[in-house]
Amino acid sequence: MSTVRRNFGEFQVTGLTHAYGGVPVLEDCSLEVPRGKLTVLVGPSGCGKTTLINILAGYEAPAGGRVLLDGQPVGGPGPDRLVVFQETALFPWMTVEQNVAFGCRVRGMPAGEMRERVQAVLVKVGLSDFQAKYPSQLSGGMQRRAELARAMVNDPKVLMLDEPFRGLDAMTRSIMQEFYVGLFEEVGRTNLFITHDLEEAVFLADRLLIMTYRPGRIKEVIEVDLPRPRTFQVMATQRYNDIRQHALELLFEEASKAFEAGSKAAFDLVDGLARAAGRQ
Ligand SMILES: Nc1ncnc2c1ncn2[C@@H]1O[C@H](COP(=O)(O)OP(=O)(O)O)[C@@H](O)[C@H]1O
Ligand SMILES: [Mg+2]
Repeated sequence: MSTVRRNFGEFQVTGLTHAYGGVPVLEDCSLEVPRGKLTVLVGPSGCGKTTLINILAGYEAPAGGRVLLDGQPVGGPGPDRLVVFQETALFPWMTVEQNVAFGCRVRGMPAGEMRERVQAVLVKVGLSDFQAKYPSQLSGGMQRRAELARAMVNDPKVLMLDEPFRGLDAMTRSIMQEFYVGLFEEVGRTNLFITHDLEEAVFLADRLLIMTYRPGRIKEVIEVDLPRPRTFQVMATQRYNDIRQHALELLFEEASKAFEAGSKAAFDLVDGLARAAGRQ
């Protein structure tokens, strides 16, 4: 019996508006996160990506607009919408197994069911042999896999990931991207993956949403029709390059705006775009 249920949800987001201290961050931001698909949102640092995810997760109430999950308005946070953040949030005093079990324990899940679920998820992320270790004993890539397991075990209707591989060295990051894409293809689910890295975005996505720099809204939706299962070989194909080039042109305008606004964080994107352009 599989303990991973297929209970996917979908978001419909209409006309979100949000501001901090009078500065508009989101304005008329509308998007769909369709059931069972991997939607990737890419935009320059500071454009409001984390703000958007916080609103979808229910951590923050928008100033205006509407978020529906399967037709129902989103109120506060809930285990049906979980976020994996870029910072590791593992409890350092708990083992991997205890960390992964934490959410189930808090919700009072019976011990037998909890053990079964936790073990199934640890197998999926390849950490069975490390379940008794503490986070500090794991590599960066393993810590990210433990984070993924900790969210997946709760079987959320939508799994959201906010730059989850940021801060990893380039090689580990590539390995994690391929690992994650394989996991998505195996388990399915509705995922919303947020990144400022264009190449990561095109490689992972079923649908690519390009976000504008402040105020943030969706500039264009690109259907990424690259074949699955997907491996890094796809990055050598003409189709991948065409999609990336199109997205690059759209993003470059936004990165320039971020740059002119003097956003230090804009360097992240300009740097990434220059790298991408150099590889053509
Ligand atoms: N809690 C907050 N208070 C004030 N300003 C904020 C807050 N959170 C984010 N901001 C500002 O809102 C803008 C968008 O931030 P964020 O959503 O974190 O962008 P991203 O995730 O795309 O880098 C940034 O200019 C940031 O400085
Ligand atoms: Mg962010």
